[in-house]
Amino acid sequence: MTELRFLVLGSAAGGGLPQWNCNCSNCAAARDPSSGLAPQTQSSLAVSVGGKTWAIFNASPDIRQQIQQTPQLHPSALRQSPIKSVVITNADVDHIGGLLTIREKQAFDLISSSAIDAVLDANPVFRVLDPAFVRRHVISLDEMFSPLDGIEARIFAVPGKVALFLEEGEPELGLEGEQTIGVEFVAGGRRAYYIPGCATLPDWLCARIRGADLVFFDGTVFTDDEMIRVGTGVKTGQRMGHMPITGDSRSGSLDVMSKLDIARMVYVHINNTNPIWRDGPERGAVTAAGFEIGHDGMEINLA
Ligand code: MLT
Ligand code: MN
Ligand code: ZN
Repeated sequence: MTELRFLVLGSAAGGGLPQWNCNCSNCAAARDPSSGLAPQTQSSLAVSVGGKTWAIFNASPDIRQQIQQTPQLHPSALRQSPIKSVVITNADVDHIGGLLTIREKQAFDLISSSAIDAVLDANPVFRVLDPAFVRRHVISLDEMFSPLDGIEARIFAVPGKVALFLEEGEPELGLEGEQTIGVEFVAGGRRAYYIPGCATLPDWLCARIRGADLVFFDGTVFTDDEMIRVGTGVKTGQRMGHMPITGDSRSGSLDVMSKLDIARMVYVHINNTNPIWRDGPERGAVTAAGFEIGHDGMEINLA
């Protein structure tokens, strides 16, 4: 029997919790060991069958710490890593920065869409990933691939925008191209999804994830204007390419997804301003609707 194992390496959005330059109430609490709110690292998911080898989905700038705090990812020989592949779902810094950390002549497969691969190609700093060790693979949308023996997956376009550092003027929001992708996993009759960045949930995407066993979904902001209201920024969630958790029946992921008959729904890529980090009405609303709130070290096994 193929048991799919998911391990949340980092549940926070870009910046992490606390973010280095932020003293909002969540960040302040995450610096206070007595608050009960543990610090959370930046967006990444590890997936395995059997637990001996792992595929990492997104290489966060915190990957060194994530490997350190995850015994399953420690080397078992003088030079070795259980990490056999790294899949990138968009080219934002929180998802590619960690590639610079795992550069020490260790073989792994680096897998992404052509648009994401082109961003890595255009940035010469990524040449530190020696091609003699790191094999780059460009996967077409909806093509089956195997990120790890025993796991079948597909990438598919989800509504999003280009990476923040590639924006010129006002970017096109809700682009459905290869710059932001979701991942579908199939094993042993189970179906799971990893969608850490998503601007909207159009009907076709709802149809795709309907009835899934597990969906990890973009939980960046609770309300679209959250960063503006907290005073930490001027952008809405939508402007950042992230659908808020709440909104009307079309624009909030909570309402839309809770009608899709998904067995387990987990918010990940949660921004430090998001009130769901702590007990309160917002966290209560999310859990009452059947969602779980991702946290570093969260493990989900689909037998
Ligand atoms: C995002 O998800 O919006 C990005 O992580 C932004 C960033 O690069 O900080
Ligand atoms: Mn991000
Ligand atoms: Zn903060």
